[in-house]
Amino acid sequence: MIPFIDLKTQQERIRSKVEERIKVVLDHGQYILGPEVKELEKQLSVFSNSQYVLCCSSGTDALLLALLGLKLKPGEGVIVPAFTFASSAEVMPLLGAIPIFIDVNPNTYNIDHEKLDDALNTATRSGIKVKGIMPVGLFGQPSDMHKINYFAKIHGLWVLDDAAQSFGAQFDDKPVGSLCDVTATSFFPSKPLGCYGDGGALFTNSSEIYEIANSCHVHGMGKKRYEYERIGINARISTIQAAVLLEKLAIFPSELIKRQTAADLYNKHLKKFNLGIQLPMLHPQTTSSWAQYTIVLPKHINRDQLQKDLSTRNIPTAVYYPIPLNEHKPYKHYPVAGNTLPVTNFLSRNVLSLPMHPYLNEDDIINITSNINELITNN
Ligand SMILES: Cc1ncc(COP(=O)(O)O)c(C=O)c1O
Repeated sequence: MIPFIDLKTQQERIRSKVEERIKVVLDHGQYILGPEVKELEKQLSVFSNSQYVLCCSSGTDALLLALLGLKLKPGEGVIVPAFTFASSAEVMPLLGAIPIFIDVNPNTYNIDHEKLDDALNTATRSGIKVKGIMPVGLFGQPSDMHKINYFAKIHGLWVLDDAAQSFGAQFDDKPVGSLCDVTATSFFPSKPLGCYGDGGALFTNSSEIYEIANSCHVHGMGKKRYEYERIGINARISTIQAAVLLEKLAIFPSELIKRQTAADLYNKHLKKFNLGIQLPMLHPQTTSSWAQYTIVLPKHINRDQLQKDLSTRNIPTAVYYPIPLNEHKPYKHYPVAGNTLPVTNFLSRNVLSLPMHPYLNEDDIINITSNINELITNN
């Protein structure tokens, strides 16, 4: 079976260095907020060109801490795409706030900035005061941040980028993490920059957002230990995960190049066939960290059957995401911009993600794409 994500080959590449790093942690014994956490935050700050970096327990907690830092209040609204993972929206109701679901662009699968006005109008009609926008860099490609930041500025909104999948990418030659008010990412093992457990980080140039998030990630702690300034949670990253990430970060730039090569090879080999498949499209100002290589199948293809047939040929695939968020039980009652999400509905029925990782070689890609060709052509 071709691995959908190959963490094993990567581990072989860095195993001895990771073991050394973990040994150092075992020796000093500072398992929580040890020196590796600060070292990682420093390195991530340089990598992302973001002044403040706070490492924490997961991407979801990074989003929650960011919303706390932005002082989101119960009843206030945040515009978020419906074509995303649950974490993007779940953090709002956790604070009593309201997700306003918006449609995505059919080419980039990211927030459709032309529908931001609809989202604001829909919220206003429901009596909801919108405070911010949460674009999601789906599958590794950042959203059109110029358009989103501009809209946010004229309407007095903040922007929180959910970059769980797009960390490592760039927009207009600037790294994800430095593109808007706050950015959150995930270090879940399968993410482009993943650890060996749960982890995440928040990026901002605002000392106020950073200080609130930093305090909230240790129970709302104040300047002194056991003195609390606000209600918080426990959202610390483990020192061992920070140690692992230091070695992962060291090879991350080379892995990003390898991911781009794999994506180029997919494009080259899929373009040879006339299958009516939509290949991933990048906005001209973006690069992608290629968390996923996701194609859109023509409507007449039975996606379930294709997945089953590929699986019997040892080719795993995945569907991100089969049901728009607004159609799930806990989200059904939240507003939908313009009351309709045609692109989200279409994509959720037709997208298919193919194996993607830095260690895919051209033979693997020829194998995957020729099997797709054979199965669709003989359909
Ligand atoms: C778009 C998006 N946002 C947020 C998250 C949450 O990250 P974590 O699993 O680290 O909490 C994920 C993880 O899958 C994600 O894909």
